[in-house]
Amino acid sequence: MRSKLVAGNWKMHGSRAAISELLSELIKALPSEPKLDMAVFPPAVFAAQTVEALRGSALAVGLQNICDQGGEGAFTGEVSAEMAVDIGCRYVMIGHSERRALYGESNEQVADKLARAIEARLLPIVCVGESESERDEGRTLEVVSAQLAPLLARFSLEELSSLVVAYEPVWAIGTGKTASPAQAQEVHAFIRGVFAERDADFAQRLRILYGGSVKAANAAELFSQTDIDGGLVGGASLNAQEFSAICRAA
Ligand code: G3H
Repeated sequence: MRSKLVAGNWKMHGSRAAISELLSELIKALPSEPKLDMAVFPPAVFAAQTVEALRGSALAVGLQNICDQGGEGAFTGEVSAEMAVDIGCRYVMIGHSERRALYGESNEQVADKLARAIEARLLPIVCVGESESERDEGRTLEVVSAQLAPLLARFSLEELSSLVVAYEPVWAIGTGKTASPAQAQEVHAFIRGVFAERDADFAQRLRILYGGSVKAANAAELFSQTDIDGGLVGGASLNAQEFSAICRAA
């Protein structure tokens, strides 16, 4: 059976003081012996502070993005996968729709970043999902398939063994418009099917998270769908009680 994972993406929110307060609230609120995996993704400058505060807790830390180049070098403004590992991060998010739409990340760059994460042994969460107009045009599965294709073409199943996929319909992100459990399940089943064409056992082990206006009130129903293995939570992860309730629903 796949264990559930709930990840909180803090996006570009917080300050030293606000994050310190959120972290102490989270430590109190979250289950101490969880049946699921849990992680938070602070802005990179607060990642070391977050790792230190969570030492010994069940909550892991990840970065929201990494450079498509590894190690060190003349890449102003970038942070490498190795640097994330060095400060104690376990996860990295790759190809979030905000990175794709606002910073022009292509499917190929997403694959390059995934290569860096795999080399550094970071656990990658690769995000896919369609825009509202793509859904309206009936192109959801085609778009998701095109986002997954470079990953399947480039990496072996062994390299992808720690991969987590997050399905995040862009129209549901930060809008309060959650995909219905049936809409989400349909795409999750499709994603698992894409991997099953390569290897059925691998596909059964793959964790696929849903993201897009997840909150305590809708988490249990979403997470009970056959192919939904947890959530990637934005806004609601900035509230310790709400995030804790989402984790408890998984
Ligand atoms: O990474 C998280 C997603 O973008 C979802 O954000 O929960 O605020 O809709 P949201």
